[in-house]
Amino acid sequence: MKIKAPKGMRDFYPEDMRRQNWLFDAWRRASRAFGFEEYEGPIFEDLALYTLKSGEGIVSEIFHFESRGGDHFAIRPEMTPTLARMVAARANAMPAPIKWFSLPRMCRAERPQRGRLREFFQWNADILGVEDPLADAEIIALAVEFFRSVGLTAEDVVIRVNSRRLAAAALTSLGIAPERHEQAFALIDRHERLPADVFDTMWTEAFGESPSAGRLTEFLKTSSREETLRLARESGEAGAAAADQFDELWTRLDEFGVSDWRAFDLRIVRGLAYYTGIVFEAHTRGGELRALLGGGRYDDLTGLLDGPRVPGVGFGMGDAPVFEALKSLDKLPTPGESLDVFLIDADAALFPQVLRIAGELRQTGLRVDFSYKRAAIGKQFRQADARGAQVAIVVGAELAARGELTVKHLASGAQRGVSTNELRDDAWKALGLKPA
Ligand code: HAM
Repeated sequence: MKIKAPKGMRDFYPEDMRRQNWLFDAWRRASRAFGFEEYEGPIFEDLALYTLKSGEGIVSEIFHFESRGGDHFAIRPEMTPTLARMVAARANAMPAPIKWFSLPRMCRAERPQRGRLREFFQWNADILGVEDPLADAEIIALAVEFFRSVGLTAEDVVIRVNSRRLAAAALTSLGIAPERHEQAFALIDRHERLPADVFDTMWTEAFGESPSAGRLTEFLKTSSREETLRLARESGEAGAAAADQFDELWTRLDEFGVSDWRAFDLRIVRGLAYYTGIVFEAHTRGGELRALLGGGRYDDLTGLLDGPRVPGVGFGMGDAPVFEALKSLDKLPTPGESLDVFLIDADAALFPQVLRIAGELRQTGLRVDFSYKRAAIGKQFRQADARGAQVAIVVGAELAARGELTVKHLASGAQRGVSTNELRDDAWKALGLKPA
C-alpha cells in the first residue's frame, strides 16, 4: 500500500531542510539583532486556550482531539495564546520590555493553497509589558530588517498599517454601533479574499443597507491617514488618544528608517478577536492576496488567562508565504550542501589514515567526510566537488615521508602542503577556513 504525506503537509528532504534552515537562520539573526530572546511552548494545548477569546467558531479551523481521559486538546494553530499563557504565569517576575521570539511549527485545518498549508512554521516576535507605540514601531522595524536581510526591498514589499481604534472611530462615523465592531472587523478582514458579490451579500445580511457594502469598501479604500485621524479626533476622547498614538507610531517608524516600507490602510483590521490597537500586515507590492505576515497590539490577552494585564504587540510570519514571495520575485536561494573538508586517499592502503585524520578534524568542529568506496583520486575529487566541500585533503606518500598532507582549495584550485603538526595546532587556521 502506498501512503503519501497528508494534503497540505510537507516532507522535508535534505535540500528542503537546507532552505528551511536558511530561513530560520535569517529569522533568528534578525530577532537577535533587535535584542529578542527565543522561547518555545507545547505542540498542543487545552482547546479552551483558543476558544476563550475566539469562541466555539474557531474549533472548525483547528485540528483537535480528545484524550483517553476526556480532555480536549488542540494542535496549536498560532503561538500568541501560548505566549500570553506563559507570560501571564510569570508576569510579576519579569521586567519589561519582554522581547521574545519563537519559530513554532503549527497546524490549521484550512484548505491548502499557494502559501497556505495545513502545517507550517511561523516566526513569532512579540514585545510585552509596554504600551508605548515605540514597541509597535520596533516590531515593524524588525519585520523590515528581516525582509532587507533576505534581499527584498520596499519596492517588493509593503507593510499596511492601521489601528483598530481608528477603524472603530471610522465605523462609528458610518453609523455602526461599537458592540458590532468586532463582527464588522471579522468580515472586513475577509473582504479582499471574498468575491465582491459574496462580500456584499454577507455584509448586507449582517448590517443591512446602512452603510451599504459598496459605500463601506469605498470609504475604507479611499480614506487617507490625515482624514481618518481628523475623523477620530472629532469622535471624542478615545478617538483623539488613538489618533495621537498613531501619529507617534508614524514618527517612530521614520526614526527607525523604515518609512518607505509602510502605508496607511484602513482595510487592515485583522480577523483575530484579541487585537486592540495597531494592526498591520505585509504584502508583496505585486498584490498577492494573502499576507506575508500579520500582527498587532493585544492589550487584554493575559488578563483573560487570569494573569495581570500585560499589554503586548507582535506578529507572525509563515514560512510558506515567504518562500512563495521570494520565488515569485526570483530571490529564493538554493543553498548547497556545506562541508568543510573532503578527505581523499591517494592509495587504498592509506584509507585507515583517512579515518584517523577525519576523527581528529571532526573533534575541532570541522564538517568532514570521505568516500565510502575506494576509488581513483580523480573520482574522489569529483565527489568532493559534488558535496560542496571547501577543501580536499589528499593523504598520500608524503604523510609517511615527511608528515605532510596536500590541501587543495576547491574554489580557487590553490594547493599547498600542510604538516600534521600544523593541523593539530589549529586545524581551521592550517586549512585557511573560518567557522560559518
Ligand atoms: P495570522 O494572521 O493568523 O496571525 O497569521 C500570521 C501569518 O502566519 C500570516 O500572515 C501568514 O504569513 C502565516 N500563516 C497563517 N496561516 C498560514 C498557513 N495556513 N500556512 C502558512 N502560513 C500561514 C497570527 O497567527 C497571530 N498569532 C500573529 C501574532 C503574533 N499577533 C501577535 N503576535
